[in-house]
Amino acid sequence: MESIDLIIKNIGELVTFNNGPLRKVTKENAGIISKAAIAIDKGKIIDYGDNNEILAKYSSKEILDAEGKLVTPGLIDAHTHLIYAGSREDELELKLLGYTYSQILERGGGIHRTIRMTQNASIEELVKKAEKIIDIMISGGTTTVEVKSGYAIDVYGEEKMLKAAWELEKKKNIRIIKTLLAHVVPKDFPGDRKKYVEYFTETIIPYIRKTNLATYFDVFCDKGAFSVEETRIMLSKAVKEGFKLRIHADQLAYIGCSKLGEEFNIDSMDHLDRMPPGNAEILARNGIAAVLLPTSMIAMRDFDVRPPIEEFRKKGVIMALGSDYNPNNQTPLVQTAMDLSTYLYGLTPLEALAAGTINSAYSLGIHEYVGSISKGKKADIVVWDVDNHNWIGYGWGFNKVRATILDGKIVFSKQ
Ligand code: NIG
Ligand code: FE
Repeated sequence: MESIDLIIKNIGELVTFNNGPLRKVTKENAGIISKAAIAIDKGKIIDYGDNNEILAKYSSKEILDAEGKLVTPGLIDAHTHLIYAGSREDELELKLLGYTYSQILERGGGIHRTIRMTQNASIEELVKKAEKIIDIMISGGTTTVEVKSGYAIDVYGEEKMLKAAWELEKKKNIRIIKTLLAHVVPKDFPGDRKKYVEYFTETIIPYIRKTNLATYFDVFCDKGAFSVEETRIMLSKAVKEGFKLRIHADQLAYIGCSKLGEEFNIDSMDHLDRMPPGNAEILARNGIAAVLLPTSMIAMRDFDVRPPIEEFRKKGVIMALGSDYNPNNQTPLVQTAMDLSTYLYGLTPLEALAAGTINSAYSLGIHEYVGSISKGKKADIVVWDVDNHNWIGYGWGFNKVRATILDGKIVFSKQ
């Protein structure tokens, strides 16, 4: 018998997604095994399969008994604005009075307010605030989270935000994918918007690339943020500098942002609440993931729009999910996004689970080593407190996770 670091035994239902990422998610291709166990050694999954067979092959001092419950890959949150200072709770009442997100932004609220507060914060303050949220994320099964900059006016502010993300990853048991974000033209920038785009393109992008603080470059391409042409200028430079690309597209208005998928090698397009269904083809053909952010839609009180899910299914677009945790949307869990995507977007529980694991991994370019239960992948795993995947969506408003495992270590366990 081989002696290993950890065995997870008595799994009622193991959803592996070992054929992923999945353009179509069905019970047949999800790699579901009942009465299963997983063998883990040196941080990696070395074997999995029938419970009795795994227990006959391996021994371990540490055994986690799943007690017949659901076990899945660790959850992957493909879109957050985790790092910022201050809060904006008073904006909810404005929204209830009928002001839209865009109107609040135009008046210098929203992102502009967070920029002002973030400019004055130290790295330590930013880290301390985000740490609390990371703890909630880990307890909710998140093992990887994407974190964007974008609340600072200048190169040193953006650098500060990204350094905070690195610091957080050092301190906490979570993987962090870092993204440099061109968010909006700051209100107090000396010069017009053309000058700011130039500054972002010629100064911020190359500087951050040189410091190696971020893998991805993202632009908030939308009405009230950056135009298609401005986005094009920044994306072109980012590609030359060696960044991978993801963009916010078609959230507040349709101005043609998702069409940029025809010009650039983009890994993900996020939000897409107002994307014309015909553009699904662009994502499908170019292997661009659609990152869905249903809780953000609620926080925007944008109840009458939806991403074209049926078209995504028809064309085989890879659907991923994010919590979109940000100062406008205080929802730290991608688990919540998974749950609500069933009711709001009509994703099946299994589609939601794939979207929050292997497909999110794909959207972040990390599916070769995380996102599924596969031999040789990192042992990032969730042990749930529910029996099977049909509880995704069915049970919501409470944390359904019993234990979170990162790199083969139990980093959260419900008492
Ligand atoms: O993804 N859409 C742009 N950015 C964020 C909101 C950021 C903010 O309001 O502070 C989003 O929803
Ligand atoms: Fe965003």
